[in-house]
Amino acid sequence: MGDYLLAIDQGTTSSRTILFDRAGRRVATAQREFAQHFPHDGWVEHDPEAIWESVIETCREVIQRAGTDVARIAGIGITNQRETTLLWDRATGKPLYNAIVWQDRRTADTCRGLRDAGHLDLVQSRTGLLIDPYFSATKLAWLLDNVEGARERAERGELAFGTVDSFLIWRLTGGRVHATDATNASRTALFNIHEQRWDPELLALFDIPRSLLPEVKDSSDDFGTLVPEWLGGALPIAGVAGDQQAALVGQACFAPGMGKSTYGTGCFMIVNTGDRAERSRNRLLTTVAYRLDGRPTYAMEGSIFVAGATVQWLRDGLKLFADAAETESLACQTRAGHSVYLVPAFTGLGAPHWDPKARGAIFGLTRDTGIAEIVAAGLQAVCYQTRDLQACMSDDMDAAPDTLRVDGGMVANNWVMQFLADMLGQRVDRPTVLETTALGAAYLAGLRLGWYRDLDEIAALWQCEQRFAPRMPEAERERLYRGWLEAVERVKSGA
Ligand code: G3P
Repeated sequence: MGDYLLAIDQGTTSSRTILFDRAGRRVATAQREFAQHFPHDGWVEHDPEAIWESVIETCREVIQRAGTDVARIAGIGITNQRETTLLWDRATGKPLYNAIVWQDRRTADTCRGLRDAGHLDLVQSRTGLLIDPYFSATKLAWLLDNVEGARERAERGELAFGTVDSFLIWRLTGGRVHATDATNASRTALFNIHEQRWDPELLALFDIPRSLLPEVKDSSDDFGTLVPEWLGGALPIAGVAGDQQAALVGQACFAPGMGKSTYGTGCFMIVNTGDRAERSRNRLLTTVAYRLDGRPTYAMEGSIFVAGATVQWLRDGLKLFADAAETESLACQTRAGHSVYLVPAFTGLGAPHWDPKARGAIFGLTRDTGIAEIVAAGLQAVCYQTRDLQACMSDDMDAAPDTLRVDGGMVANNWVMQFLADMLGQRVDRPTVLETTALGAAYLAGLRLGWYRDLDEIAALWQCEQRFAPRMPEAERERLYRGWLEAVERVKSGA
């Protein structure tokens, strides 16, 4: 049965591959960053070959680091940046264009046109999403309309569309399998989450030929077999989920009402709603949390586009520090009561504002504002935005979860975690394993391969490393939050 599971976590700025053992412990990790391309204001692209190389290289490296070989690996789980859209040639496996990344806003006007024409209700009621450039449908339509010959070739059945999971499955299986899982499908704006199938009316609305689409499978399923040429052995691909849903699984949030927030490039708060696809009144998303044995479990999600990316910008753009780890000590030096606000709307605002044309700003600078205050404001912005989502969730679900499980790169920062607990006025739990995204993919593969009997067995493996309880007086919390709300109002485009 093998000793390890290989989890591929293909994220927005890097690919990581992790080997886990049966107890969900990390045995070895390999990571590669790859280039971000910004051809125009608001456009974000990735070279698909760079994605592929980073994945296959990290797979090779992790096996080498663990001093093991493929024969001791039971199978593969894949998790990925969601919505990012690829179109490739079925005959050669070659992409026709760069991957259009989830953050890309090039279809903002198309989306506005669709909203103005009154299609929001159709899209929201079928997909649980909104009409926004974030989702794959308008990105795919853009590719078909702007890459020469693409639409004709798509009509002839020569091309394949996929989110990153599908592209990787295609490559790993040597072009034998064109599939995705229900969580990834639920982010395209083409998938009916109630009927669990591609929706003909949505395909017509976005003008997408059916022949492009992958087969939609459970999150624990048979996604084909790795061809031996890549890693020197054949392995089953047995688990697939979008990265935020995978993190929900890795955090063992299996009961309705349990929620997690992941602080990676963006921040995504997801709360399990069980077998009910709750429709948000506050412009949050309804999404598939995971699908097992053909049965979908749903979740409500708030998506913030920029979280860790703010830290990256402060480091690489403004060069305020050399290493993200320095942000904690910098924030601790902040002048008490400073009122600097950084609104990181670099690619517009996500939930609950959905304003693709908003842009970032820093407010409240005074003569004695220094690097520490600006860095702290960048970190605090992530917490304020989580509070925005918490407020929407409590209203939609009549009660917010009383504890939030957190993960992602930023949660290593204790200062941020304390401020988050203070701003939310609720407990924040940090687990022992922070790689919950990759872990979730491994668990999904493990379920399929018989490593785990059921979700309860997985839930028993979750362990809390540190709990942060709120300490800030309520008046102070509300004063700071009001300042944030005012700052956000000032960056909105009014569009
Ligand atoms: O929806 C986009 C999300 O899946 C990206 O996640 O971890 O790459 O920021 P991440």
